[in-house]
Amino acid sequence: MKKYQHYINGKWVDSTVKGENIVVNDPATEEEIGEISCAVKDDVDLAVEAAKKSYESKVLVDMPPMERASLMRKIAIELRKASKEGGKILCSENGKLLPAAEFEFIDAANYFDYYSGLTDKIEGRTIPVNSKVMDYTIYEPFGVSAHIVPWNYPISMLARSLSCSFAAGNSTVVKTAELTPLATASIFAKAIDNAGVPPGLINIICGYGSGAGNDLTSHKDVSQIAFTGSVKTGKVILHAAAERAIPAVVELGGKSAAVIMPDADLDKVVNSAKGAIFGQAGQICSAMSRVIAHKSVKNELVDKLSNLANSLKVGHGSEDGTDLTPVISEEQLQKIENYSRSGQQAGANAVAGGKRVDRKGYFFEATVFDNVQPEMTIAQEEIFGPVLSVLEYSDEEEAVSIANNTEFGLAAGVFTNDLNKATSMASQLNGGQVYVNSWFTGSVATPFGGYKQSGYSREKGKEAIKSYLQLKNIGIQL
Ligand code: NAI
Ligand code: MG
Repeated sequence: MKKYQHYINGKWVDSTVKGENIVVNDPATEEEIGEISCAVKDDVDLAVEAAKKSYESKVLVDMPPMERASLMRKIAIELRKASKEGGKILCSENGKLLPAAEFEFIDAANYFDYYSGLTDKIEGRTIPVNSKVMDYTIYEPFGVSAHIVPWNYPISMLARSLSCSFAAGNSTVVKTAELTPLATASIFAKAIDNAGVPPGLINIICGYGSGAGNDLTSHKDVSQIAFTGSVKTGKVILHAAAERAIPAVVELGGKSAAVIMPDADLDKVVNSAKGAIFGQAGQICSAMSRVIAHKSVKNELVDKLSNLANSLKVGHGSEDGTDLTPVISEEQLQKIENYSRSGQQAGANAVAGGKRVDRKGYFFEATVFDNVQPEMTIAQEEIFGPVLSVLEYSDEEEAVSIANNTEFGLAAGVFTNDLNKATSMASQLNGGQVYVNSWFTGSVATPFGGYKQSGYSREKGKEAIKSYLQLKNIGIQL
């Protein structure tokens, strides 16, 4: 079995304690595919020390913006070159479709390209105070930025925060998710190294959340945190940040609803559902996990959605023709089973799927629940599996009320051909992004983040760079 290591100070190293390893499985086969050093506190200390030294050396801060941009574009080139090799590893550790795994490296490259364009546009302003004072603002990085990455999009999510943090001039320590560390520690780290990133600016360690994750976010030399993952862990991380009064970017989960108007093109809803709730086995923070359909179209839509769910081919992410891939772990599979059971007990009707697939691997059937009531657990909590809840409404006010009636507010959507209705809905729905007649319409350039408990920061787009910078005001008495 291949052994993987941490990437600290420009070198691949084992943990300081011998024998501390994490074994990684292929969720489609349950086979062990690799073993990686597991960071303990001493390893976190080494990674933070390397980041701190590189920050204090000013190697990145003093690098002219155009040179920083060019280094970032080299990283992008290396990531694109690595997409085939990296995609293979990512496909087997995460379970996702091979083309989707390869695309994560392309997506990552896009982030580095996009934020490379901002390195020379981090501009302050001058402020009139009085004729005897020259007052101006500048933006400065925080220093050492800690990035905690989830297992659903290990490469994309990492690149999203890292590229922005790097463009801003921070040094970074990344903790990968313990379930999916391999492609990051090997291929992603190699791309960073091949691009010629000076040692210590980007360090990548693997370890458990409660161990290395906690040691990292509570480390005295970490000045800022970026986290993507569950609401529960997000709150733990915000507590750690509060303890040291440092800022944290948090992008958390969701229970996002699509409102289907009577005039909607139902095939557009079905096409969206294929990627947005059954793709990636539903393990998507902004998944379209609720459909709120007008009573005049609900039954027809449920038929179409259940036909879709029943037509999906279950298989390994690397097999041609596979639609439905496994969820990440046995634990996640059991969680989904429990949700499904709770839905059935509460009176919802599983018109497609509803149970685990009878084969090796952590597969759950593509599931459509009809007759879901707004207060049911399956309408309220993030399931993070291929499970769609369909609810019914009679008038628009009721649709908005059902859609907004959860603790989350990550994304929302509306399907209608009436532009007035679409814009009116879009302004009433709680969500950091609202999609009309599709799902996932964004790119690296569109700001992304949550309302309510889905978080309050924004990643992607020009807005995100401010999360990785602090503002300084300078006044000169003339
Ligand atoms: P999680 O939120 O616990 O894990 C995400 C990352 O946080 C991992 O790297 C983990 O090691 C780290 N972490 C955990 N505890 C930590 C701590 N105390 N300090 C620092 N880092 C810590 O997610 P988990 O438990 O793997 O998945 C459970 C649920 O989380 C899923 O069912 C899903 O609902 C949600 N989730 C949401 C994601 C999103 O994109 N919004 C991504 C992953 C999970
Ligand atoms: Mg090196």
